Amino acid sequence: MTELIIAIAKGRLQTEALELLAMAGLPIPNCAESSRRLAMEDESRRHRFVFVKPGDVPVYVEHGIADCGIVGRDVLLESEADLLQPLSFAIGSCRIVVAAPIDTRENGHGMLRVATKYPRIAAAHFAAQGQPVEIIELSGSVELAPVLGLADCIVDLVETGRTLRENGLRVLEVIADSSARLVVNRASYQLKTKPISKLIAALASVKSEE
Ligand code: PRP
Repeated sequence: MTELIIAIAKGRLQTEALELLAMAGLPIPNCAESSRRLAMEDESRRHRFVFVKPGDVPVYVEHGIADCGIVGRDVLLESEADLLQPLSFAIGSCRIVVAAPIDTRENGHGMLRVATKYPRIAAAHFAAQGQPVEIIELSGSVELAPVLGLADCIVDLVETGRTLRENGLRVLEVIADSSARLVVNRASYQLKTKPISKLIAALASVKSEE
């Protein structure tokens, strides 16, 4: 019988998150990565995994559709979901930064145009500095926006720095560090204390072996 439903962020975190779960004793089928199936069980059939867009992990977990999830801190900072965050992991390590073209100059009209997939993080960051901004929300390829003149700068993730470099941008400021987190639904934590505590302990032991 399924004891826990665990939401996994698809994309760059997915492979490492699955490796982490396997090391914690929750081996999921080898076909998980190549398959188009969006939900599957581990070999014990006690854990069911659902694969969703990173931004949807907090939504599924907050609504209790998934009991737990593995997702980046960047997504959690942007989300307003009320979740427990019992563990952070070394995987998915990156930074949320403000970046602009290398030859950037004042745009002359005071209002900074900021392109981003993280409108809340960006707005909060510039509000704290008293800098008026127009937030231009994009879904991806954010580095293109200042290159093509849509924005003066971007707020985005940097992992290796390669995307910034190859598009002629540089980091102006680091807003926050990010890495993967385990998130848990508050009600699930009360109602399924035993399997959730077991999962947290198993993941924490892998973490300490890293
Ligand atoms: C992320 C991020 C940067 C890039 C940074 O985008 O938004 O564009 O990775 O990685 P790097 O520093 O190692 O070059 P992602 O690959 O998730 O795609 P997206 O642009 O479609 O959001």
